[in-house]
Amino acid sequence: MIDFPGIEEVAGIVRRASSLMVRKGFGIESKGTRENIVTTSDLAVQHFLMKELAALLPGSGFLCEEEDFVDTAHRDVWVIDPIDGTANYSRGIASCCISVALARDGEPVLGVVYSPWRGEMYTAVKGGGAYCNGEPLHVSDRPFENGLLFTALCVYRKELSRACSDIIYDLYMECNDVRRTGSAAVELCLVAAGKAELYFEIRLMPWDFAAASLVLREAGGTVCSFDGGLPPLFKPSLVLGANTAESCERLLKCVRKHLKELPY
Ligand code: IPD
Ligand code: CA
Ligand code: CA
Repeated sequence: MIDFPGIEEVAGIVRRASSLMVRKGFGIESKGTRENIVTTSDLAVQHFLMKELAALLPGSGFLCEEEDFVDTAHRDVWVIDPIDGTANYSRGIASCCISVALARDGEPVLGVVYSPWRGEMYTAVKGGGAYCNGEPLHVSDRPFENGLLFTALCVYRKELSRACSDIIYDLYMECNDVRRTGSAAVELCLVAAGKAELYFEIRLMPWDFAAASLVLREAGGTVCSFDGGLPPLFKPSLVLGANTAESCERLLKCVRKHLKELPY
């Protein structure tokens, strides 16, 4: 029996939160470097979600990007990125979203990724499939050679970008083409939707991928980290995603050719 909140209720809360992603009039502050910013909308969305989700599931904990909010000594923990793709959001680029996962005993069991400016509401419940705007999602069957790769050069840890470039170069030569759109969660959901096939980032935080990785897996795709297992929800990790287990294995092989261990 499923004894956690219904996906429709959570999606409804996320949809309401998105009204706080205002088009203009928000403030922008640096979180230490010119690339790493937070807007007043990130904070407003996070505060709204925390209030609503705590009321929906009393006794649950939170792991949220902003204000370093960590209260994870609970069986049920909401993993929240109030805006994934904040740089895009702050410039009016549509590739940004709200990402909310519910983790039970350390594993995502429910995921909502809502990209209001793209008009896409991705939802997944463990064992229940993945959906976009209510339509079932399935990964594509394109082979690795015809795959589109979403990736990035590690914008918040630029010293890792040389290793990323080497890996991306090799993958680029073997697949169809590369994309960088600036929202890890949207990109993983696009792999789930069969629009792209491959995903690699050297260092993501749990809130970047918790919800979208469930969407991708429930759409028939594969997600793994450097050790071949699922990326953990309590520390940064390398994240690979693909439409098939074979393509994911091939991504991992290329990563391991360049990295003997994680460089962080
Ligand atoms: C970032 C975006 C970006 C990815 C970074 C993330 P943020 O999240 O998902 O696409 O390349 O690794 O940190 O900072 O916009 O929430
Ligand atoms: Ca993020
Ligand atoms: Ca964010």
